[in-house]
Amino acid sequence: MTIRITGTGSALPEKIVTNFDLQELVDTSDEWIQKRTGIAQRRVSTGETVSTLAAKACQKALEMSGKTVEEVELILVATCSPELLLPCCACQVQDSIGASNAVAFDLNAACAGFLFGLNTAYAYLQSGIYKNALIVGSEVLSKLVDWNDRGTCILFGDGAGAAFVEAAEADIVCENGRRAGLECIVQGSDGAKGMVLSCVERTLNSAFFSGNKIENLFIQMDGQEVYKFATKQVPACIQQALDKSGMTVNDVDWFLLHQANVRIIESVAKHLKADIAKFPMNIHDVGNMSSATIPVLLDACCRSGKIKKGDRIVLSGFGAGLTYGASVLVW
Ligand code: ACO
Repeated sequence: MTIRITGTGSALPEKIVTNFDLQELVDTSDEWIQKRTGIAQRRVSTGETVSTLAAKACQKALEMSGKTVEEVELILVATCSPELLLPCCACQVQDSIGASNAVAFDLNAACAGFLFGLNTAYAYLQSGIYKNALIVGSEVLSKLVDWNDRGTCILFGDGAGAAFVEAAEADIVCENGRRAGLECIVQGSDGAKGMVLSCVERTLNSAFFSGNKIENLFIQMDGQEVYKFATKQVPACIQQALDKSGMTVNDVDWFLLHQANVRIIESVAKHLKADIAKFPMNIHDVGNMSSATIPVLLDACCRSGKIKKGDRIVLSGFGAGLTYGASVLVW
């Protein structure tokens, strides 16, 4: 038994904010941002929410899979920026798409969230508890960003991506002889380094809280520490996943990495001695959307025909927590 992704979908806010727009807000330049990050523009919510974007992405993924909403058994939303603490975003999505037979809950593994969601679904589906799942990464990070902080506000964007996964027999052979489905997962966490990328919860107990008043409620990041973590841990965990599945870098057609920064992706390709042409990117147009980056990219690659049946893909996510992981699958 394995799992296969049979549908993908994505949804982005209408508003485009370019680097030139940001020059009006903070002391920065298009040149600096493009050179250090690879980002030229991002989408920013003017009203779209984590749940409305997620629901749209789910509807598209379901449409591609040919399944009905009534058939959905599990909805997992990975987010670190839900509009409500209660109820969870997955339940809002369940309600808005009408998937009344599904079990729905959120998980938060920041930028690795979609990957951790996929791996969680893998465990549920492989054990036979559920037969299918909608996995979503959805974020509105624009509300967690300090628009006066040029070190962070240039990086992030809003959006949602979804994948519909189904339990499948492990013996579906593609034309190129590969067996379709998820081959292996590797994931890890390093809580000891968690504070290099953090955002403080806004709701303090108003009656009894006696600690120090928290001044900064926005995303805070030690960019260089995040960079070091990503460029060391990501190639290592991808290599570990390839070793575990008995594959080499040459057996992989596409590496779909969390879109944090072009320089991180280039460094990972170099460490792995893999051709950078195998690393599709969309960060130039949409920025870093945390848990949404991988499914939005996957959806684009799938709909454009870049990813074909039988292609072997490595998905790798990494981010706050710190969390990281890699999954190997044949499309
Ligand atoms: N525009 C112009 N100048 C800037 C900007 C900006 N937007 N931001 C910082 N600077 C300045 C700094 O003030 C500093 O000036 P100084 O030398 O006068 O003090 C100078 O540029 C260098 O600053 P650094 O922080 O050292 O810049 P660095 O080269 O490290 O680049 C960056 C910053 C792009 C964030 C880099 O550290 C990085 O890529 N880190 C990875 C973090 C990341 O990708 N995070 C995404 C979220 S986490 C995730 O998704 C996994």
